[in-house]
Amino acid sequence: MKVQALTLAASGLLSGVAATIVPAKAATVGRALEYVVKPKMFIVSMFDPEAEVWYGIEEFDILARNITVPGLSPLFPDVHCTEDGDVCQLTIGESEINAATSIASLVRSPRFDLTTTYWMIAGIAGVNPEVATICSATFSRYAVQVALQYEFDPREIPANFSTGYIPLGSHAPDEYPQSIYGTEVFEVNQNLQKIAANFARKATLNDSADAVAYRAQYNASSAYAAGAQPPSVVECDVATSDVYYSGALLSTAFGNFTKLLTNGTGNYCTTAQEDNATLEALLRAAVKKTVDFSRIIVMRTASDFDRPWPGEAATTNLWWAEQGAFEPAVMNIYLAGIEVVEGILDGWNTTFAKGVNATNYIGDIFGTLGGTPDFGPYNYNNNPVKKRDVKAKKGKRSAIKVARKL
Ligand SMILES: *[C@@H]1O[C@H](CO)[C@@H](O)[C@H](O)[C@H]1NC(C)=O
Ligand SMILES: *[C@@H]1O[C@H](CO)[C@@H](O)[C@H](O)[C@H]1NC(C)=O
Ligand SMILES: *[C@@H]1O[C@H](CO)[C@@H](O)[C@H](O)[C@H]1NC(C)=O
Ligand SMILES: *[C@@H]1O[C@H](CO)[C@@H](O)[C@H](O)[C@H]1NC(C)=O
Ligand SMILES: *[C@@H]1O[C@H](CO)[C@@H](O)[C@H](O)[C@H]1NC(C)=O
Ligand SMILES: *[C@@H]1O[C@H](CO)[C@@H](O)[C@H](O)[C@H]1NC(C)=O
Ligand SMILES: *[C@@H]1O[C@H](CO)[C@@H](O)[C@H](O)[C@H]1NC(C)=O
Ligand SMILES: *[C@@H]1O[C@H](CO)[C@@H](O)[C@H](O)[C@H]1NC(C)=O
Ligand SMILES: *[C@@H]1O[C@H](CO)[C@@H](O)[C@H](O)[C@H]1NC(C)=O
Repeated sequence: MKVQALTLAASGLLSGVAATIVPAKAATVGRALEYVVKPKMFIVSMFDPEAEVWYGIEEFDILARNITVPGLSPLFPDVHCTEDGDVCQLTIGESEINAATSIASLVRSPRFDLTTTYWMIAGIAGVNPEVATICSATFSRYAVQVALQYEFDPREIPANFSTGYIPLGSHAPDEYPQSIYGTEVFEVNQNLQKIAANFARKATLNDSADAVAYRAQYNASSAYAAGAQPPSVVECDVATSDVYYSGALLSTAFGNFTKLLTNGTGNYCTTAQEDNATLEALLRAAVKKTVDFSRIIVMRTASDFDRPWPGEAATTNLWWAEQGAFEPAVMNIYLAGIEVVEGILDGWNTTFAKGVNATNYIGDIFGTLGGTPDFGPYNYNNNPVKKRDVKAKKGKRSAIKVARKL
């Protein structure tokens, strides 16, 4: 009987016959919360190995308070915090969809006041040997969603194209995208990026004998000189893609795309599956000032090379080679990251409570938080790039295209 009633109500809603406004449940709306946590520092992990390095450490007990937040990944339903609430950590789940949904749920939770919170995305990533090496810790200014493009299979790409990825709305790989979705590029506070990197430089990064041997192979190419150096802290940019790509051609194509979208200023060095999604969800909260977008740190430690050394097969690099960097990279999240967390806590009263002013543009490609992006969008061939491209396209695709817009 109940089921039938529900079905009727639902069909009424769908047909628009009976728009239903129900009174809010006073019990839910009016209920006083037990307490609200106002963290100084929020650590964002993507999966278990990145999270576990923060558990059982000597500096603080992040498992002292567990707060279940509706909307988090079913695998990681709790936010973890220290007893005093100064430091919290959550695991958002891997890939763009998990990242965006988890962060969007967190920033709307009434259990938290995130207005003055510093965020540290702290995960592992693939690394570009042109810029850095395995086991390094990187701090980004830009996060670029590199696979937000058309894609042709390599067997079907035009002979004069350098890659099968073509920016949306464009007709060649090096053309600035004509259709902008809004999540292509995020820029974070460069002053904070530098402060965080300098805190991390106090750490002695972990390494392994296998990683030492593997990175030495990159010395065979002068372009990969950085890949052959010992690990260090590097300021360079992160690519986001659900597709876990590997190999010199795709990596170069996405490095090119990063340059294209950042007006030549982005320096692609790491690849991961979440950061633009995390940043988009934080940005939408920042519009309402429940999150401060100038307080975001994007740290990625390098667990593997994005492409093989000269002469090695791409599949060997991805699957079979003993790169020896996964465990040191995970450990380096803690070793580098704890310096950042403690640096911010120790300097809270003097510096961080009032904030580190950004002197660069921060935000997205639309200028949603105000200001004008210093990386685009700019005109292409005298065609102004449209903020919300609803350009008619043939057939069904146009409906999809429009539906995908913000
Ligand atoms: C919080 O959850 C973790 C497991 O995720 C558990 O080990 C810990 O004891 C919990 N803390 C409290 C205070 O219940
Ligand atoms: C992702 O965000 C970074 C900045 O955080 C930005 O540089 C990058 O362009 C973004 N990428 C995409 C494809 O959205
Ligand atoms: C590639 O070739 C096509 C013709 O097959 C031509 O229309 C296009 O302009 C060429 N693109 C570039 C980048 O040379
Ligand atoms: C890395 O960590 C492992 C495990 O704690 C340790 O045995 C090794 O000595 C460390 N190596 C370096 C270079 O710090
Ligand atoms: C890389 O190769 C150069 C030239 O052969 C050599 O001098 C240098 O020691 C090598 N570096 C490493 C890290 O193997
Ligand atoms: C990357 O850009 C360079 C310089 O424009 C170009 O020569 C190269 O073919 C591009 N590579 C890929 C894979 O797109
Ligand atoms: C910061 O100020 C608070 C409140 O005035 C004080 O309790 C705390 O000890 C100070 N912290 C540091 C690191 O100086
Ligand atoms: C940051 O900028 C604001 C507005 O321009 C200014 O009032 C404030 O004093 C600055 N804060 C710091 C720490 O420089
Ligand atoms: C892009 O870079 C060029 C050359 O550095 C500069 O003249 C131009 O103003 C930049 N465009 C934007 C949108 O910042």
